[in-house]
Amino acid sequence: MALKTARFNEAAKVEVDQALCTGCGTCAKVCRGAPLSMEGKQVKVDQTHGWGCIGCGQCVTVCPVGAIHVTGRDLGPADVLPMPPPESRADYASLNNLLLTRRSVRDFAARDVEPEMVRRIVEAASTAPMGLPPSDVRVLVFDGREKVRAFRDDLFAELKGWKWMYSGVGSLLMRPFLSKELREVMQGFVRPVTEAYEEKEREGVDWFFYGAPLALYFHASAYADPADPVVAATYAMIAAQSLGLGSTMLGFPGIILKRSKALKKKYGVDANAEAGLAVIFGYPAVRYHRVLRRRFGEVRRWGEENAA
Ligand SMILES: Cc1cc2nc3c(=O)[nH]c(=O)nc-3n(C[C@H](O)[C@H](O)[C@H](O)COP(=O)(O)O)c2cc1C
Repeated sequence: MALKTARFNEAAKVEVDQALCTGCGTCAKVCRGAPLSMEGKQVKVDQTHGWGCIGCGQCVTVCPVGAIHVTGRDLGPADVLPMPPPESRADYASLNNLLLTRRSVRDFAARDVEPEMVRRIVEAASTAPMGLPPSDVRVLVFDGREKVRAFRDDLFAELKGWKWMYSGVGSLLMRPFLSKELREVMQGFVRPVTEAYEEKEREGVDWFFYGAPLALYFHASAYADPADPVVAATYAMIAAQSLGLGSTMLGFPGIILKRSKALKKKYGVDANAEAGLAVIFGYPAVRYHRVLRRRFGEVRRWGEENAA
């Protein structure tokens, strides 16, 4: 039985080149699918065992002699690349410095984002982990201010269409159908944000997508883990930072799209999917001179409070 995703229903094919295989057993050790096992010094492939091959690629990348080939579930021999040498990889200090220098950028220079930059961002983000391979994450690219603006206008029109739900008679009528939390979010967040966007729009300022020259919308099918687009979007932001681009995540587009059948249809978003995540990008128009130390709401070492 293979694990179904939106794109694949069947197991990937695993081939072992017996002439190359040394019988070390590492592939079977890391296989959690779990079609691989060892029979003495021989790797055995049994697709009826466990889930069958899900195409995680662990066996291929761990094999010291390149004796394993996996084909299917969007993976093939051409996807197996040489290991980048250690000296070419970011170490903790350089990665941490890159992360520290990232700010959510909302002021963009007039310069467009080159197609090569978009390609690099998508390439780096596609290395992100996913709940179940292969990734169901879909990236909708709005390259150029005009496209971003048109997407933004569609979303904003939908957002303005929600006004009746939190004002006057509408809010009374909707009361029995909306949870207490949703009513609070509508009144305390959606309403003031919509009003602020509208006020800025009257001044000719875009406070929704900040006039960005590039937007990527990360979404996935209903089969995917809802976290998949978020993880991919996070990788994209970090990649953008490494390329000298600024970026900001936007939560509203996903929330709006999730509730609009017409917009989901227009933009090819799965009708039953969870909200995706938009990220805007562009060359920063401001320069940051300092970085911030941030901390989580809590980092609690389990058992520590009882240790004394
Ligand atoms: C899920 C998510 C949604 C966000 N949505 C918005 C948004 O709609 N508009 C906006 O200006 N910033 C948005 N942000 C950016 C946050 O406001 C920003 O990350 C926060 O202020 C911290 O600043 P920093 O990213 O510069 O560290 C969002 C961030 C996340 C993670």
